[in-house]
Amino acid sequence: MRSLVLGLQFGDEGKGKITDFVSGKDSIMVRYNGGTNAGHTVVTSRGTFKFHLLPAGSLRSKIIVLGNGMVIDPEALVQEINTIKPENPHIKIFISSAANVVTKLHKAIDRSQENMRGASKIGTTSHGIGPTYEEKYSRNGIRVGDLKDRNIVEQKLKLISRMRESELRGTEYESEEKLSALASDLCNFWPSIRDYVTRTESLLFNYVRDNEEMVFEGGHGTMLDIDFGSYPYVTSSNTISGAVHTGSGVSLRKISRIIGVVKSYTSRVGEGPFPTELTGEPADKLREAGSEYGTTTGRPRRVGWLDIPLVKYASELNDIDELSITKLDVLGTFREISLCTSYGKEVKNPMNVMMGFEKPDPEYIYMNSWGKLTESDIEEIVAKGYGSVPQEMKDYIGMIEKMVQKPVKIISVGKIRESTIIKE
Ligand code: IMP
Repeated sequence: MRSLVLGLQFGDEGKGKITDFVSGKDSIMVRYNGGTNAGHTVVTSRGTFKFHLLPAGSLRSKIIVLGNGMVIDPEALVQEINTIKPENPHIKIFISSAANVVTKLHKAIDRSQENMRGASKIGTTSHGIGPTYEEKYSRNGIRVGDLKDRNIVEQKLKLISRMRESELRGTEYESEEKLSALASDLCNFWPSIRDYVTRTESLLFNYVRDNEEMVFEGGHGTMLDIDFGSYPYVTSSNTISGAVHTGSGVSLRKISRIIGVVKSYTSRVGEGPFPTELTGEPADKLREAGSEYGTTTGRPRRVGWLDIPLVKYASELNDIDELSITKLDVLGTFREISLCTSYGKEVKNPMNVMMGFEKPDPEYIYMNSWGKLTESDIEEIVAKGYGSVPQEMKDYIGMIEKMVQKPVKIISVGKIRESTIIKE
């Protein structure tokens, strides 16, 4: 089986947990977009692990692949590899030589661009993601395979700094002197990664041919897609299912199961439209209950009710086969749950709202909550399966299935890996 797990909202849907759940010890895990702007936390009995570059199943799968569509910060990469090696000593790691390299120069440019945007800033993670993709598309990018040659890296850094003079003005990379040291720093990572770097697409073709168990993990969420998301408040890569092909070389036709992950409510980091956003005390309550603070930046996330028009749009766009609903336990902290079913009669297309062209008048239905789940409630659900899920939760899930017109197959009712169950 080859599965793809991706988020249908603004990122942070809990994809990491679902990826981890659907992967086994024989799975090959593949990432194909984004960089350290993504982040997911996996809680196991051995502790809490935060990943930004490595796919979530890295803790127990046999092979992980970082595809060409990614932008890779070598320092973060080496750190994460050092974290998983003791946990999963036999893991094989492959990194595309064609993935682009995020440098400190790009982080400085990211910050400088945000300053220049002023009030219309995007609220990026400041991890240099946008500028690194810009470099890729302007064909000046430093690719992972370049790190073996210090001269190439230095020449490219100099070219980039000349072209981006105004963006680097006032930063520590204003003068070319620092670039030589930066080139050395970057290339110093090469010995630690060289054994993993290869043309990953060829490797992946072989795995597909051999019918290996593979799980592709999408970074970010559909609403952050550079083409289809809430532009300009998006990330700089494609996050939808089609990005698998361009970001790894594996055709989407080879994926048999596309799982769209939806958090039982909505959250968003950074700026941009958020029709179902909560404010004040209910927002604080939901944020605390769901620990909604960015894995990457620690920023408090904006939170709100589940937004069906968006989820439906995203499920069509990604051509998903099934839904997975996460963090249902968190929503139980509310006595009554609101569910946005429409943006009102005036809105022709939910994306017009996302782009700020139309103003939403969100319509809600109100449902009874299942109440706060205790640890023993969760243990019982895990032990007995979907049959023991509270009726109110089943009603909520049923309503989502009805409105999105896709079946829910996996639900998550707690933090640890074991609290994820299959809905028969
Ligand atoms: P960038 O990807 O750092 O350029 O940030 C662009 C926007 O996408 C910002 O609003 C970020 O907060 C948001 N973003 C990027 N990646 C993620 C993610 O994995 N989860 C949630 N938000 C993200």
